Amino acid sequence: MTAPLRLGVNIDHVATVRNARGGAYPDPLRAARLAQEAGADGITAHLREDRRHISDADIDGLMQVLTVPLNFEMAATPEMQAIALRHKPHAVCIVPEKREERTTEGGLEVAREENRLAHFIAPLREAGCRVSIFIAADPRQIEAAHRIGAEVIELHTGAYCDAHAEGHLAARDAELSRLREMAAFGHALGLEVHAGHGLTYDTVQPVAAFPEVRELNIGHFLIGEAIFRGLTPAIHEMRRLMDEARA
Ligand code: PXP
Repeated sequence: MTAPLRLGVNIDHVATVRNARGGAYPDPLRAARLAQEAGADGITAHLREDRRHISDADIDGLMQVLTVPLNFEMAATPEMQAIALRHKPHAVCIVPEKREERTTEGGLEVAREENRLAHFIAPLREAGCRVSIFIAADPRQIEAAHRIGAEVIELHTGAYCDAHAEGHLAARDAELSRLREMAAFGHALGLEVHAGHGLTYDTVQPVAAFPEVRELNIGHFLIGEAIFRGLTPAIHEMRRLMDEARA
């Protein structure tokens, strides 16, 4: 039997809309509560160095209100490490961060920074956080993530989703094959495999069908879809598509 597939809902872009005006609404904590009531298995939030969406106060609030695990996305900086060690969220996901990028553009270069990252994640693991590394579907990066002691890899699905959106079907299928192979490769090394970035109703099912993938983290599309149909129905439809693909 295929293992269950968890849905982590990323609420960053509720905070993006709030911050476009300043003030208190829409409230990402309310979105997180609704998402967990709608069946999200976890909430993901990325505290960026420039605080462009999620704020420190949002993280404080999430730690208080959530009954499902918080997946705290962060760059590998001393500031973020200190914040994670203060809160000890269920999971941390280490992502690359560039100031000028609009979203997390690529995976982390683990292979080039193995030593630094091994030292960086050790205290997080000792504090009981499940450490995930956000990487491209590349065997060098997966092996390096395994060597530094990560328990989880999250495969970046952005290239697959972009190729789909641009109608480059051969490229999309090639990206999907690479993701499938790398999910199996990571799983065989003993890593828990997650995936995310850019997933929509149109792109989620082939990834959800990979038996080795245990969690999908999805945000931007769901928050956008919530404008039209409401957050709860938007999440229900994603859950339905994931379950259908998994069956
Ligand atoms: N997973 C990781 C590691 C991410 O950085 C992001 C984007 O913040 C996501 C998943 C969710 O991507 P999206 O918002 O495009 O669904």
